[in-house]
Amino acid sequence: MTEPVSATAHAHPNIALVKYWGKAPRPGNVPASPSLSITLDGLTTTTTVTLTGREDTVYLDDRPVADAKIAACLDNLRRRFDIPPVEVRTRNDFPTAAGLASSASGFAALVTAVDAACALGLSAAVRSDLARQASASAARSIFGGYVVLEEPEWQGRPLLEGGAWPLRVVVAVTSDTAKTTSSSEGMRASAASPFFSGWVDSTRDDFAAARFAVLERDFERLADVAEHSCLKMHGLMMATRPALLYWNPATLACIQRVRALRDQGVPVFFTVDAGPQVKAVCLPEAEAAVATALQEVAGVQRILTAGLGGGARVAGR
Ligand code: DP6
Repeated sequence: MTEPVSATAHAHPNIALVKYWGKAPRPGNVPASPSLSITLDGLTTTTTVTLTGREDTVYLDDRPVADAKIAACLDNLRRRFDIPPVEVRTRNDFPTAAGLASSASGFAALVTAVDAACALGLSAAVRSDLARQASASAARSIFGGYVVLEEPEWQGRPLLEGGAWPLRVVVAVTSDTAKTTSSSEGMRASAASPFFSGWVDSTRDDFAAARFAVLERDFERLADVAEHSCLKMHGLMMATRPALLYWNPATLACIQRVRALRDQGVPVFFTVDAGPQVKAVCLPEAEAAVATALQEVAGVQRILTAGLGGGARVAGR
């Protein structure tokens, strides 16, 4: 009996420095505004796709799951390609669904593993387009380093290699509990906020400023625009009905600690996504001091550190 065909892919989460929060009113899960991210190393999603010939099955950390977004992603792929029933086995070496962008690395790994298992021969740009349709932040995890996601194609594109400006990221984990409101649901509700049009319009300028700061390796400028984009997104979230309040007291304490460090001249800034973890982005020489400072904040459960990593890739077949 021959072994069933399978392929394994690895992908890393990415962290947006100019955030995506809101969708354009058209099909294809198209963002309402551009975003800019860094892809991490260290934190990894590993996904194996096996062509079984039976019905689709999905396992997350060896537990069978019925995940509507994964099913929709596979359906979408099948509208364009001939894909037999598959078994998907995926695991994250970091907390799932707690604001560490597991859906970004998850769909980047899934599309890459399906591409390899079915020998579709897709380009990174096409994989990014397909990953975006499942979860827009996943379009960025197809690529490594500094990545942009912008009109008109809305496929991720590499802006600068991570090695060209190797920032470090210190993640303060303040809760392992999965979030209660998914990003997709939250974004749908935020579109009705009176703040939404201001968010979309002003994000274009933030994006241009951040892109310039990255290309110039201008840390101060990037810090200013990234913190502004983060707080503006959370302002929109809080001004949504029902309100989206992803922070806990330790989240705010970490933000204040990072601001105090920066006031003292430490090259660090914070960002927070749709969850309670705080990501402190810093120059390499500041990493140890930032990690020590955040570890001491009441409510911080543990610290993870990461550098900038590569894009989604196939591990073996
Ligand atoms: C706060 O990509 O998870 O992390 O496209 O609906 O799946 P969907 O949303 P998703 O949203 C990510 C939101 C964010 C900001 C960002 O990563 O840009």
